[in-house]
Amino acid sequence: MQMKRVAPIENDAAQEEDDPDGPADHAALAGLYDIARACDQPGPAMSWRHFTASVRSGSGGERAEAWVAHDDGRISLGRTDDGRTDSGQVGRDEVAGGYILHFPQDDNTHLALLRLMTRTGRRREGVGGALLDHAIGRARDEGRRVLIAEASADGPGAAFAKVRGFSPAATETRLVLDLRTADWSGLELLRARAVRHATGYSLERWAGPTPDDLLGDMARLAEGMNDEPLGDLAMEDQRWTADRVRAREEMLARAGQQTYTMIARHTAGGEPAGFTQLVVDAERPEGWGRQSSTTVLAPHRGRRLGLVLKLANITWFRACEPSIERVITWNSVANPHMLAINEAMGFEVFDTWHQWQLDI
Ligand SMILES: CC(C)(COP(=O)(O)OP(=O)(O)OC[C@H]1O[C@@H](n2cnc3c(N)ncnc32)[C@H](O)[C@@H]1OP(=O)(O)O)[C@@H](O)C(=O)NCCC(=O)NCCS
Repeated sequence: MQMKRVAPIENDAAQEEDDPDGPADHAALAGLYDIARACDQPGPAMSWRHFTASVRSGSGGERAEAWVAHDDGRISLGRTDDGRTDSGQVGRDEVAGGYILHFPQDDNTHLALLRLMTRTGRRREGVGGALLDHAIGRARDEGRRVLIAEASADGPGAAFAKVRGFSPAATETRLVLDLRTADWSGLELLRARAVRHATGYSLERWAGPTPDDLLGDMARLAEGMNDEPLGDLAMEDQRWTADRVRAREEMLARAGQQTYTMIARHTAGGEPAGFTQLVVDAERPEGWGRQSSTTVLAPHRGRRLGLVLKLANITWFRACEPSIERVITWNSVANPHMLAINEAMGFEVFDTWHQWQLDI
């Protein structure tokens, strides 16, 4: 078994290609994408464009790298004159498994975030174990002390992680709201009642990148996510600046992710009080949208602003994105306040995931 570092696609023109086979040196990346798609749990699939962008960088400015495991010396499908892979290339069908590591840069520099997968049909042969050993080596080389990986509670990843000494540091439920069957008049009533507790605030919204003059507000709001309960995850607070907000948005745009953002502002003081964001992939895979971050800053909590923001945003989102049928969200089981909001809106439990943590 050989390990090969996968070259990310560096130019946007290549990302626009419809054919994930792309140029020959993208074959290993396409092989890894095939495996990722086969590993997908029910729910929104990651598009090729989003996947290739995530191999270039994480959405929080993390440096990324990807590696594949392949069998040495196998015949490839005529990529060189003599029909064999040259030393630098791996055919997409030869990829037995692989991993993507994200290295946070602005904070949490003790962490490496891992996504690891083995081709179905090549499982229980030690491929995953060999990949994990390699990933641990790479993370140590980068001076990281802790590895974090997520896996669905009822998939093979949980058994694998346990055997390899990871501990389940946090548990999250995925919840889904079906926009086709949601009780929209009931939600409007809920919003009207909640708004009475949230007097003294105004809402502002925009689709796509944050206007320049609001980047500072968004950085303050993003830091509100540091209050999210994280179980036993060894994560530090994230530090956000206007530049980091912009960099995240540029990554999302490269990845074909369209955002719908709603913020609440304290009318008297003028300061930002909370925000929520919905995201949709440019390919709108099977009608899925994603509810991303929501936070209300500490001085403004207890006024139902979280509910008001989410209800206002999803109503606007539905009008802008009529082809979206379902919205999925992640909710830490240690966060009963957000769970209560989601349940009030009609979100229903879909499945459960663990974040697995390993000291390396
Ligand atoms: C998890 C995953 C990467 C394991 O890959 P793999 O190549 O099968 O792993 P290995 O062959 O190295 O397995 C090592 C050990 O893990 C345990 N293990 C792996 N899969 C298991 C399963 N489905 N059930 C029970 N134990 C399992 C076993 O103890 C295994 O040793 P054994 O086969 O000698 O009993 C693979 O199943 C996968 O890609 N799953 C989907 C993606 C995922 O969940 N990734 C998260 C990983 S944290």
